[in-house]
Amino acid sequence: MRRLVILSVWVLFPWLFVCSQTPVYKDAGQPVEKRVNDLLSRMNLREKVLQLNQYTFGENDNPNNIGKEVENLPAEIGSLIYLSIDPQLRNEIQRKAMEESRLGIPILFATDVIHGLRTVYPISLAQACSFNPDLVTRACRMAAKESVLSGINWTFSPMIDVARDPRWGRISECYGEDPYLNAVFGVASVKGYQGEKLSDPYSIAACLKHYVGYGVSEGGRDYRYTDISPQALWETYLPPYEAGVKAGVATVMSSFNDISGIPATSNHYLLTEVLKDKWGHDGFVVSDWNAIEQLIYQGVAKDRKEAAYKAFQAGLEMDMRDNVYGEYLEELVSEEKIQMAQIDEAVSRILRVKFRLGLFDKPYVEELPEKERYLQKEDITLASDLAEESMVLLKNENSVLPLSSSIKRIALIGPMVKDSSNLLGAWAFRGRAEDVETIYEGMQKEFGDKVQLDYAQGCALDGEDESGFFTALETAKASDVVVVCLGEAKQWSGENASRSTIALPSIQEKLLLYLKQANKPIVLVLSNGRPLELMRLESQVEAIIEMWQPGVAGGTPLAGILSGRVNPSGKLSVTFPLSTGQIPIYYNMRQSARPFGAMGDYQDIPTEPLYPFGHGLSYTTFVYSDAKLSSSKIKKDQKLIAEVTVTNAGKVEGKETVLWFVSDPVCSISRPMKELKYFEKQSLKVGESKVYRFEIDPMRDLSYTDATGKRFVEAGEFVVWVGNQKLTFEVVD
Ligand code: BGC
Repeated sequence: MRRLVILSVWVLFPWLFVCSQTPVYKDAGQPVEKRVNDLLSRMNLREKVLQLNQYTFGENDNPNNIGKEVENLPAEIGSLIYLSIDPQLRNEIQRKAMEESRLGIPILFATDVIHGLRTVYPISLAQACSFNPDLVTRACRMAAKESVLSGINWTFSPMIDVARDPRWGRISECYGEDPYLNAVFGVASVKGYQGEKLSDPYSIAACLKHYVGYGVSEGGRDYRYTDISPQALWETYLPPYEAGVKAGVATVMSSFNDISGIPATSNHYLLTEVLKDKWGHDGFVVSDWNAIEQLIYQGVAKDRKEAAYKAFQAGLEMDMRDNVYGEYLEELVSEEKIQMAQIDEAVSRILRVKFRLGLFDKPYVEELPEKERYLQKEDITLASDLAEESMVLLKNENSVLPLSSSIKRIALIGPMVKDSSNLLGAWAFRGRAEDVETIYEGMQKEFGDKVQLDYAQGCALDGEDESGFFTALETAKASDVVVVCLGEAKQWSGENASRSTIALPSIQEKLLLYLKQANKPIVLVLSNGRPLELMRLESQVEAIIEMWQPGVAGGTPLAGILSGRVNPSGKLSVTFPLSTGQIPIYYNMRQSARPFGAMGDYQDIPTEPLYPFGHGLSYTTFVYSDAKLSSSKIKKDQKLIAEVTVTNAGKVEGKETVLWFVSDPVCSISRPMKELKYFEKQSLKVGESKVYRFEIDPMRDLSYTDATGKRFVEAGEFVVWVGNQKLTFEVVD
């Protein structure tokens, strides 16, 4: 009888049986948390531990022996740093995870997509000079699509380490010296990578890195100790991370540095109390490369097992490549040093991200031919637009730029003129030199046969060979204007690329000074990954354009700026010190106790940097009206509107970014001299005026944080700075 009932129910409602057979975690219709818990309840300890590990894969993509590598890979591995861009191979590995593991948990494929994958766009330091976060969101969206089509679901980007020491090679990877700028561009980039929803077909998980304070590395030497006061941590280094977490970033990477005695990798306060308990981050933290094992070198763990224990206890969920979790977590659980509930908590964070990405429901990626995956026309246009807005006109004496239409011969001199590979910048592994438009090619396109372009390399980027100087000088002599293109090799920036001086190698400086003999106007074009020491060159040239490392599409925007087709609109995201010895120097320093002239400053050089944060010229003139405040007195819970009208009083259309700074001259704790709180970029036609408005929210814009992260607004006088205007107002209780 019972059998009969079951049979008839089966015949009448077959879906009931299918549903009851499909585990909850495989049911796309179920809420993520339910799926996470269901899956977790089915996993054994080994399976859980493997989820907490990330291995590398794909260095060898030789189809003849790749099979062996796939075979050796545990099907239960949590994540792979995928060092290939072959979607087919990636799917093959994923198939192993889905079909050969007991529970079919998809692998999370990760890699460093830092400023584009194959369509490389400008380095982050340059992107911030655009003051155009929307363009950055779009560029990251495009990079996300190229990533998915290469089999990648997670990028180790953006890097939002506030950096104030340009000797540190990794300054090129962040958005400059200011916390607010790093916050705004970090959020813009997270939005681009993750899209509206992580489960959208071309979204990938972003990763805020390196949490936290890595940019403070002593003397700009990579991997060194960082002495960071709690005040500096909360005021300067943590705010971009808090903004990124609020924007919903999926993951965070802990940094290499030892933070005043407790390395980030084993820092419970930062990884758990701040990131998760205070800010509510519900994704996971991945270690940096080999960073758990490095706790031994940092002197806080005696061996790999203790390192694993300390990192895990601190709240670090995924072990990048060390396999210390793989080796020791089970032992640590059996010794009851780590509780199963902690393992479950860590695993659930990783599973949550995988579910949110939709990996369980769509584990495989499209397998398109290479030409359909990368370098689409609209992508190159976007890279070019971003490069254009990132370039900064630093100097333009006697309006030598744009080049006059009477110019018939341009000498293009220097090691960067025909360079393609170095324009890509650091961390552009998938970028190819042949994809890059050189300065020379951009100039040819721009000037066609209207102007004769004569080229001489002059010298290499480094070394002592001056044999090309003479030809370069002859070329310069025959021209109407000399464009000298100098710069840095891409490997001089990025990780493990610290430099004791930020000057260009002396051979390049010598070349430029030698060319002075031609008695022609000189335009200096720079392509580099950090601010440079230009004190011996600046006075020798009429104009300077900082083009940074623009990626694949820098030639056309640069040529457009030279010809005047493009009006430059970039402003510096980082101070250019006059000399290396001025470091550290940044706009938001605190005031000296004796702020009288050069008192206390280096007596052998000027006090001011060569170019301050925010500096950048235009071909037009923007006139700022008298700025106004909606009130001269507000209560702490009231808002205040600051307004200025900007008029394009020049002869060409242009884009102007208005930067709004605040300062609090008297406060319970000393405050930076100025802090950027808002910026806005607008396009203005000739003669056009536009209003720029900044709504001041006292708690957001006027408060200070104490050394525990608590925010306060104090009554008293405050200052708003815009252009060269200073407005004061009062906040009352
Ligand atoms: C770098 C990270 C990078 C990781 C993975 C590390 O050496 O510090 O920025 O994401 O390697 O490649």
